[in-house]
Amino acid sequence: LDNGLARTPPMGWMHWQRFRCVTDCAAYPDDCISEKLFRDMADHMVSDGFKDAGYEYVMIDDCWASKERDNVTGRLQPNPDRFPSGIKALANYIHDKGLKFGIYADYGTLTCAGYPGSIDHLELDAQTFADWGVDYLKFDGCNSDVMTMESGYSLMSAYLNATGRPIAYSCSWPAYQEPIGIHPNYEQMSKVCNSWRNWDDIDDSWGNVTNILSWFSKNQDRIAKYSGPGHWNDPDMLIIGNYGLSYEQAKSQMAIWSIMAAPLIMSVDLRTIEAQFRDILLNKEVIAINQDSLGVQGRLELTKDKIDFWIKPIKPIVDDYLSYAIGLLSNRVDGYPYRVNFTLSDLNLVNGNGYMIRDIYDSVTIGEIIKPDDVLFIRVKPSGTVLLTATPLSSSKTVTRI
Ligand code: DGJ
Repeated sequence: LDNGLARTPPMGWMHWQRFRCVTDCAAYPDDCISEKLFRDMADHMVSDGFKDAGYEYVMIDDCWASKERDNVTGRLQPNPDRFPSGIKALANYIHDKGLKFGIYADYGTLTCAGYPGSIDHLELDAQTFADWGVDYLKFDGCNSDVMTMESGYSLMSAYLNATGRPIAYSCSWPAYQEPIGIHPNYEQMSKVCNSWRNWDDIDDSWGNVTNILSWFSKNQDRIAKYSGPGHWNDPDMLIIGNYGLSYEQAKSQMAIWSIMAAPLIMSVDLRTIEAQFRDILLNKEVIAINQDSLGVQGRLELTKDKIDFWIKPIKPIVDDYLSYAIGLLSNRVDGYPYRVNFTLSDLNLVNGNGYMIRDIYDSVTIGEIIKPDDVLFIRVKPSGTVLLTATPLSSSKTVTRI
């Protein structure tokens, strides 16, 4: 969607994966979906370096609304016990921190969790969100007519645009069409949405991560070309720092999401996240791969010895040769860091002057001048990922070195 937003993959925090639909604030005052939760997260986004690293949106998912619309205006309204100050005040709080504010609605009659849907109120809801100062809308698709999504999501896009407020628009339309075998119209989607959820929800396990990666790699030839500045495929939230991923798996999710140019939407308790997971989310070099301005979605290029090689073209471009991020993701379970050998030409990196190879997580240069047919030996931990960058060397540089 050419509205000037999401020129690089959106980055932020969203409550769903970690906090779901907890509404009992008496029993769970720190976990329930309430204005306190979002204020707390906004505070930590700033104080703990997430904002400085590029994370900007603080986003409410399902379960914020009152079960009834306002009976005079017909507008959506927040649950008064959990959002006593109102949504506009929360948006102001988040804006005052230099962050942006996102909210959730649903194209159908009811949201997935049973709160009022937008189907008969698209224009009014778009205006309400603009009036509240919303910067990002996640538009879900439960309880709706899946066959009308292309026109319906496009209409909502037009209503958002007509408010005059720039609102990043995240569509869930393919997540409802793909699983029932419909190939959605991604051409149209890239014109009316800034990002879209393609496939199933992520839950808190490594199995979910690998299932999503498997769907994305199987479908990459069909969908990857629709990702780019202003319009992104979205494999769902980062689950880093929760209960389900080991340290190595968390590094894997961060690496491959970055290679896929996926939105980096954290869903973790920022008040209690352990430092080692926080450091993964804050890794500037990995984020730079995700946010690279070429905006190309990476792909699974090769699988060898159960190691998946994911590659993404990035800047700088040297003598017409692209740089690459290369993620070696191990699907092995044989317990030791497996040593895989490969050449850059196996991955179609063919600059005859060679490449400088850097290991991003270990912050070391592996090779100053690696030629396309030089054999590299890399050890990859079970379900871990080694993330490399390959920067092409120019002929002049090679001559200088000789
Ligand atoms: C389905 C979506 O895919 C999830 O991300 C989340 O928004 C839930 N609905 C909320 O009900």
